[in-house]
Amino acid sequence: MEVLPSSIPGDEVAGWDIEEIDIQKREEAVTKIEKLRPDVVVHIAAYTDVDGCELNKEKAFAVNAEGTKSVALAASRCHAKMVYLSTDYVFDGDKREPYLENDSPYPLNVYGQSKLEGEQYVQTLVEDFLIIRTQWLYGLYGKNFVSSVLRQAREKSALSIVDDQTGSPTYTADLAKAISVLIQLGARGVFHAANSGLCTWCTFGQTILKLSGVNRVKVIPISSKELGRPAKRPSYSVLSCEKLKEETGLMMRPWSEALKDYLRRVN
Ligand SMILES: NC(=O)c1ccc[n+]([C@@H]2O[C@H](COP(=O)([O-])OP(=O)(O)OC[C@H]3O[C@@H](n4cnc5c(N)ncnc54)[C@H](OP(=O)(O)O)[C@@H]3O)[C@@H](O)[C@H]2O)c1
Repeated sequence: MEVLPSSIPGDEVAGWDIEEIDIQKREEAVTKIEKLRPDVVVHIAAYTDVDGCELNKEKAFAVNAEGTKSVALAASRCHAKMVYLSTDYVFDGDKREPYLENDSPYPLNVYGQSKLEGEQYVQTLVEDFLIIRTQWLYGLYGKNFVSSVLRQAREKSALSIVDDQTGSPTYTADLAKAISVLIQLGARGVFHAANSGLCTWCTFGQTILKLSGVNRVKVIPISSKELGRPAKRPSYSVLSCEKLKEETGLMMRPWSEALKDYLRRVN
């Protein structure tokens, strides 16, 4: 909502949260979107608790798959472009090199399965669609890994962080710019968008502490098995953003640069 209005001058941008639109209520949601007659619908609502999805499969599919279907039906009726934010968790992580947009998805968990079903509804129902897969998000609003590490560092002398999952931490301000550029250029199809470079959650955590000048907290690398979360995660889910670069000229900056910028803003 901060990026789109300034990058698409002259266009009006309306932002709705769950209080304004519940995508699980299909009739109401479709009618509300249709009434606005939008040119572009950016759909980022989701049930994002990855472990919660494992325990509440029904809700995961109701929001992430069927809720997305509601938005897609509305976009299609308005002949609007639809932008759908998807995830690296549609991949299983076995490739061990950056995933391309046309690599076969094979989600390991319910969250990934439900988001993939959302992708399939968008592709089937909407003519002008943009599916943007991203990963490891943090931003100025809401809970995220960076704020959680910094909060825990104030309370503890050691943090145990998973060291066997590799990805690209991505700053939502950078992602928003990429979404905006893709919309402005009229891009269509599936794109990957993430900050460049890669790391494990453990390295990410160590970098957050180092850049924040926190030296007294020890970081202990642990395995996903030791952490024992209900949902399996891919051990490697780096997204290749070559297509984004080729089609828009945009190369997203390295994750450590974006992180520095974020920390400057929150401080
Ligand atoms: N976070 C990541 O690392 C990551 C990675 C890849 C892709 N994504 C995708 O990026 C998008 C945003 O993720 P996020 O991490 O920012 O998640 P988030 O903070 O949980 O935001 C999702 C929003 O959707 C809302 N929502 C849930 N159910 C809804 C419903 N039935 N109707 C309308 N709104 C509903 C939530 O409201 P409540 O808070 O009230 O539930 C919340 O405001 C999602 O599509 C997610 O799948 C995220």
